[in-house]
Amino acid sequence: ELTKTGACRQAVGTDGELTGSAGKPYCGYYTEAEVRDIVRYATERYVDVVPEIDLPGHSQAAIAAYPWLGVTGQRPPVWTDWGVSPWLLNPDGKTLRFVEDVLDEVMRLFPSKYISLGGDEADKRQWNASPEVRAQMRKLGLANMDQLQGWFIGRLADHLVQHGRTPVGWDDELVAGATLPASQVVMSWHGDDHERVALQAIRQGHDVVMTPQESLYFDHYQSALPDEWAGPAPMATLRQAYDTAVVPPGASAAEAARIIGVQAGLWAEQMPTFAHDQHAVFPRIAALAELGWSPADAHDWNGFLQRLPAELARYRALGIGYADGAFAPAFHVAAGADGAFRVELSSQTGFGAIRYTTDGSAPAADSARYAQPLTLPGGTTLRAATFAADGFELAAPRTQVLDETTLLTREGSALATCSQQPPSRLDGSRPAQGPRPVYAVDIGNACWLWPQASLAGVKHVALDVERIAWRFGDEASGAVVRRKASAAGEFEIHADSCAGPLLASLPLAPATQAQGQTRLDANLAMPVGAGVRDLCIFATGDPRDGQWALARIAFSK
Ligand code: ACM
Repeated sequence: ELTKTGACRQAVGTDGELTGSAGKPYCGYYTEAEVRDIVRYATERYVDVVPEIDLPGHSQAAIAAYPWLGVTGQRPPVWTDWGVSPWLLNPDGKTLRFVEDVLDEVMRLFPSKYISLGGDEADKRQWNASPEVRAQMRKLGLANMDQLQGWFIGRLADHLVQHGRTPVGWDDELVAGATLPASQVVMSWHGDDHERVALQAIRQGHDVVMTPQESLYFDHYQSALPDEWAGPAPMATLRQAYDTAVVPPGASAAEAARIIGVQAGLWAEQMPTFAHDQHAVFPRIAALAELGWSPADAHDWNGFLQRLPAELARYRALGIGYADGAFAPAFHVAAGADGAFRVELSSQTGFGAIRYTTDGSAPAADSARYAQPLTLPGGTTLRAATFAADGFELAAPRTQVLDETTLLTREGSALATCSQQPPSRLDGSRPAQGPRPVYAVDIGNACWLWPQASLAGVKHVALDVERIAWRFGDEASGAVVRRKASAAGEFEIHADSCAGPLLASLPLAPATQAQGQTRLDANLAMPVGAGVRDLCIFATGDPRDGQWALARIAFSK
């Protein structure tokens, strides 16, 4: 049942592109033979594969296969959302026997010393609501549900120890104020408070693997470039990965010795392709390697950068599609004198030389080197790329066209979110031609800001929008619902603030059934004026019915 029912979910959103149609479920599991093949391949390369059976949360697929493993007795669907599922395993003896049986099979397949029991993101709603689970907690003399999770995981940790294995798990219960089984190695992903949780884990006697989500979750996007790939917020740059505190501040030498490793995460909800995996992993994994293998006193960001071109050349020779966002040129365009444009170029790291052309050709290692802001006439196609001292191309060419539309148009990714929170970057559906769009979206709040827009004389506006299937489960609690003026809702553009005068209303009726992007057009309801105005752009309605994404906004005269 685990590989029949539990291994198939309904295709939602872009899943249909993977299965061939929206009606065809997305399925997959590893056979025993495939697992053995993976373990053999890794062993030949001196790599241990550490399996994780995540308990008691992240288990909805198991409950879909065997509803008696859950608390309510009901059969949920296999989850199609991202984030935290409310379906928890029932922490009773019957579940323990089932999970021990699963772990026995895991131990047969994986020779690894370490086996992870997970323990992260276990929302206790169903446990709290269940008289049986509450009775179980009282019978065990436990004060709360976090202690009950500790008891449940502790039983399974004992089972692994009895079989000569070392249990591993996430740091969540330490964050919740409970303890973890003494035998357990802790993977600390809550780095947000100066690695305090990791230090607490050490002081409670655990060995610790550092994996702070802020810098070592490689599924997170890594630049603010318009062509950055999809991934969760916040940004985790190459520099942030390199600067990860492997030893928590305040640790003594003896405590530092309890840090047994460092780990990156590559959560795959938004990684449908191997190309995306490569983009996310390389070159940040070079930073991870140096964190793990070089002594702290050899840590040197500038030295790392100097050595990186040779590593990127190796990636290129191996055909690895690495991310060049740490070096790629970004364009900052403003109005210059007499209708000309003033363009500043910069890159995330400032490493290497940005070189450019103005005739549309690809920049080469001997093209003009950018040194100061450029003044360029309308009609110019500016192209820029970044080169190392030896001429190696660190970042592929990026293009900026300068014409009468440039300053009146903004890509959605160049707008701020109304919450001022960093946006998620979400894949849109694949168009018939051209690259797949990626949208910068504050999930649950379809609202963007264009501060200080200079829009003298504009009369017309066009928006390119796409509706993204809602699959953001636990993000729903903060969803911002805005009053609709029509059944399908609309995009509204307001001046000065989101409650300011309405500049334009663009009904969404033509876009609700569309696959991919739809262009909405409207004449402005009032003149914008000659000065600069702050703009607020939002979709009305409930984002849980479908999250609107904004590809670009383009004004015209
Ligand atoms: C985790 O990121 N939920 C471990």
